[in-house]
Amino acid sequence: MRVVDIIEKKKRGNSLSKEEIDFIINGYVENIIPDYQISAFLMAVCFKGMDDEETYNLTQAMLNSGEKVDLSDISGVKVDKHSTGGVGDKTTLVVAPLMAACGGVVAKMSGRGLGFTGGTLDKLEAIPGFRVSLTKEEVTETVNKIGVSVIGQTANIVPADKKLYALRDVTGTIDSIPLIASSIMSKKLASGSDKILLDVTVGSGAFMKDIDDARELARQMIRIGNKAGKETKAMITNMDTVLGVNVGNSLEVIEAIETLKGNGPEDFNTLITEATVLMLKMGVGITDEEARKRITEAIESGKALEKLAEMVRCQGGDPAYVYNPGLFKRAQYKGEFKSKQEGYIKHMNTEGCGICACILGAGRETKESDIDFSAGIEFIKKTGDYVSEGEVLACLYSNSEEKLNTGLEYLKDVYTFSKDAPPEEIIIHEIIE
Ligand code: URA
Repeated sequence: MRVVDIIEKKKRGNSLSKEEIDFIINGYVENIIPDYQISAFLMAVCFKGMDDEETYNLTQAMLNSGEKVDLSDISGVKVDKHSTGGVGDKTTLVVAPLMAACGGVVAKMSGRGLGFTGGTLDKLEAIPGFRVSLTKEEVTETVNKIGVSVIGQTANIVPADKKLYALRDVTGTIDSIPLIASSIMSKKLASGSDKILLDVTVGSGAFMKDIDDARELARQMIRIGNKAGKETKAMITNMDTVLGVNVGNSLEVIEAIETLKGNGPEDFNTLITEATVLMLKMGVGITDEEARKRITEAIESGKALEKLAEMVRCQGGDPAYVYNPGLFKRAQYKGEFKSKQEGYIKHMNTEGCGICACILGAGRETKESDIDFSAGIEFIKKTGDYVSEGEVLACLYSNSEEKLNTGLEYLKDVYTFSKDAPPEEIIIHEIIE
């Protein structure tokens, strides 16, 4: 087999066989095939796509490139949740402990921030002492004891994705549905849970900007999961505005804590409730009605918050921060972003909101750079709100005055206004069960 023939074949839009896909992936992981040939292959996939069979075979080839986590020592049905990324997306911080407080089991591997999107691991590390690297024994013990643990991926999980993702990031080959589907599903299948709920985000703050593309991505991932023997469902959710009100690591942890106490913003409350209902139905086998009852009870009784504190304690963090979010260090500088006009906020470029938070220090500039946990944005007003001239739309936080000023300048281009009220934002577009 020759790599160039496989590239040519894909370039002409023909389907590749399992053997050809295995040859490409194994050759790349073993450093036999160079980056430039894989780049050409990825670009051909971007332009010509892949059919369901090819995408499944690509996922399997990636999955087989590394170790598969065995969670069989953990009792109960383990349900994973995965979001395709967004701005202000702190869903896991709420859904994982809430699920455990309602009788579910979550042993989850999360990721770090990527581009303008934040990552659950970075948010958890905003809690002093929190460890995202646990041994298999520690994860097993924690989940068997309290029903939940959220950790980072081990080094040997899907090495093919690590190499391919880094290459895609710099070759303009991220936004391909089969490449995203195989990247996500190979990691989900490797991380050992029994069932998977996918949160496929769509809008200006998501990788999928268009609902039809989001639907197709969801469909492909569900098919891969089910074919691999893991029940998989998806929700298509709105990321055309920031989720909740806070963006930035400790700010998002604080918002998650408030939500677990029942004080979350409406859009975020809706999302975490519907996600947890679906996960409870999948994992515990209860009815919709019973799931909603348990969720209300867990939040009102304080059990959900207690579960987050337990998880923090078990993973080396200081649970005092969960009970008293005032302990989180505040940024040195705060700036108010005020409206220059009166009217309705018609749209917020959500990717721009994420980039602005990164400018303030909430994301990494290079792979090696440190995150400023206290940097971020609190959105006082969002899409659909009516604002007066001079009204504060957002508060920006940073430990660098220069970054704060750059962020304030950057946010100017994020908002568009209108005289008439825009249509109401839909939080959950569709649930694909
Ligand atoms: N998240 C992933 O893990 N992979 C992608 O390709 C895109 C988002």
